[in-house]
Amino acid sequence: MAGFDRIELIVADITTLDVDVVVNAANSALAGGGGVDGAIHRAAGPRLGTACRALGGCPTGESRLTPGFDLNARWIVHTVGPVWQGGLGGEAELLAACYLSAIRLAAAQRARSVAFPAISCGVYGYPVDRAAEVALATVSAALEELPRMERVLHVCHGVGVFAAYQRALSGLKESP
Ligand code: APR
Repeated sequence: MAGFDRIELIVADITTLDVDVVVNAANSALAGGGGVDGAIHRAAGPRLGTACRALGGCPTGESRLTPGFDLNARWIVHTVGPVWQGGLGGEAELLAACYLSAIRLAAAQRARSVAFPAISCGVYGYPVDRAAEVALATVSAALEELPRMERVLHVCHGVGVFAAYQRALSGLKESP
């Protein structure tokens, strides 16, 4: 099955979803924070903070695994997106590395379903149109090599983010 066919775009709170893996947009200290990171820590409960502290941080573009604790999801993959600096600091490559390392780590746990937030598109300031293109191109290419992965949800927190993802998905489907 082609990568596109397993990608879904939804507007939702990622902490409510019934998936094997929820991806978190974390910081390099894995110290918790605001945005989706704060929401995931609140929903997963205090054991998540303890588990994150034991990991000793995570460089930008890489991913780390914890249990999902009080989430419905069995696992949380914490990935650290780049801070937007105008686009000339390797942000696109680092963002692609986040999606690729996260989906590979999820697949290594035999996950069939993964939910991604719009990594770097909040506090870290990455323009959502550009980020959506990187996210969808990276995930659809990765899915070609992950036949057991059944569903990848791109969870949009708001209709503006959803519209950006829809435009990016249409563009990707039309590209040769
Ligand atoms: N469900 C899904 N998406 C959410 C949720 C939620 N509950 N809450 C926020 N979002 C969305 C935001 O609207 C944005 O589109 O997640 C996207 C990523 O925004 P941030 O959470 O701000 O993440 P990021 O830009 O990667 O910044 C990471 O923020 O909270 C800190 O500790 C985190 O320092 C790190 C930085």
